[in-house]
Amino acid sequence: MTVLEAKNLSYEYSVGTPFQVTAIKNINLTVEKGEMLAIIGHTGSGKSTLIQHFNALFQPTEGQIFLNGKDINESKESAHAARFKVGLCFQYPEYQLFESTVYKDIAFGPSNMGLSDAEIDARVRRAAAFTGIRDDMLEKSPFDLSGGEKRRVAIAGVMAMEPEVLIMDEPAAGLDPRGRKTILELIKNYRETTGSTVIIVSHSMEDVASVADRIVVLNKGTVALSGSVDEVFSHADELVEMGLNIPQITKIFAELKKSGYDLNTSVYTSEQAKNEILRYLQKGGNA
Ligand SMILES: Nc1ncnc2c1ncn2[C@@H]1O[C@H](COP(=O)(O)OP(=O)(O)O)[C@@H](O)[C@H]1O
Ligand SMILES: [Mg+2]
Repeated sequence: MTVLEAKNLSYEYSVGTPFQVTAIKNINLTVEKGEMLAIIGHTGSGKSTLIQHFNALFQPTEGQIFLNGKDINESKESAHAARFKVGLCFQYPEYQLFESTVYKDIAFGPSNMGLSDAEIDARVRRAAAFTGIRDDMLEKSPFDLSGGEKRRVAIAGVMAMEPEVLIMDEPAAGLDPRGRKTILELIKNYRETTGSTVIIVSHSMEDVASVADRIVVLNKGTVALSGSVDEVFSHADELVEMGLNIPQITKIFAELKKSGYDLNTSVYTSEQAKNEILRYLQKGGNA
């Protein structure tokens, strides 16, 4: 079942000025209920512009956004409702923390939803658990936490709104490999536990390969590729041309294929690489 849909969506910044830019052009895509969709693309490809349409922060220059089949920009009420149904976590969300305690920061979103104090408290605690924020951290100032912890608090704030669709813009950006892994795992865990629809935006194929069900690749404001992780990875050369980093192992398989080895090139983990080499050798390929 489709939960979100972009139909012929275009957006231009600074219309009618010398700085007019077409950021996205004629985008069509659907998001299915319960899936983890990755939107990837090089810097400037239009990812952030696109996702800010999904909760009505941006109004399309052309086209429409449908949430559960209804145009979200149909009325003020539907646009307002979309803000809560579609939770958007911006890039570097830790810069938006401002409350005196971690608890209050996580509670900020749900406090604006007209919920009871008990319900807000339950949501804060659930979101804290998802993001690995321990109870003793809730009464601390967010400014006393490490960078990775602040990021998790900010993510918890959006999760606490319990949106139907959670969108994360570059959730792992700027973190070290361990921090990146932690964030990606908690998103995966949140999605598996709640069954929510999740959209993860990234410029890193490597980051999304392990968590996404499906990938949409943006290039210069349009959809260049879309499909399962395997399908998209089988276009390694095109991905590199679009300025995307592909895992080292995928590069090696693409080169081997070019040199005449009949290998499946949609390989992005060492386990897959091992299996593909064994398969190749077993069917009598050249070692
Ligand atoms: N506030 C803005 N004003 C004018 N142009 C912008 C603004 N934000 C983004 N753009 C332009 O829109 C295009 C898409 O940007 P963006 O959606 O931020 O891409 P991404 O998130 O993939 O890096 C780029 O050409 C960018 O320069
Ligand atoms: Mg961006």
